Amino acid sequence: MKCNNITYHSGKVTEQDRFKVLGQKGVVVWLTGLSGSGKSTIAVEVEKILNSIGKAVYRLDGDNIRFGLNSDLGFTEEDRMENIRRISEVCALFQDAGLIVIASFISPMAKMRHMAREKSKGKFIEVYVKTNVETCIKRDPKGLYKKALVGEIKEFTGISAPYEEPENPDITLDTESSTLNECVEQLVKKILTVTTL
Ligand code: ADX
Repeated sequence: MKCNNITYHSGKVTEQDRFKVLGQKGVVVWLTGLSGSGKSTIAVEVEKILNSIGKAVYRLDGDNIRFGLNSDLGFTEEDRMENIRRISEVCALFQDAGLIVIASFISPMAKMRHMAREKSKGKFIEVYVKTNVETCIKRDPKGLYKKALVGEIKEFTGISAPYEEPENPDITLDTESSTLNECVEQLVKKILTVTTL
């Protein structure tokens, strides 16, 4: 922390007051998995369904955030930590505001996911989007694995940078044994159980 002489200023509206206005509880739904595992695809569908049934929901996505808020960060472990630190703070604020936040970030290290959970004070669902690296290489929707495999992209998760599998996720969505619809349905169900007032 670089700031001194700052004092936290509390308001008169509580989290519960905000939840009452929105008719739901806020939560951070954190999707972790390799690039190409299906995080963003699942997130887009879940957001669409929740919005269509009147839920206040907002999606944050790795690629998108790196165009703006985190455009100064790359893919070293240090930069990824900072990427996730900022995102975790944004998620915690949105959750406190009462939103259902769908966050899809590779977040390759357990300590990154742990930080995200801590910042949102446990109002957090860790979702492991499980797809093995061979399948991601076959899918290669952005052509990035092809480049990573010939060394054109350095520190690529799953190829030249590590991915620590979640040990105790709240949900695992296996995109190889389940269809997209099944994954989406399972996640929507879980979200509705924890956000209903
Ligand atoms: S994280 O590791 O810091 O959590 P984040 O989710 O923000 O990553 O961004 C991942 C996306 O950036 C990938 O889906 C991919 O499109 C792109 N990308 C570019 N370079 C890399 C890299 N070296 N490793 C992983 N993803 C990369």
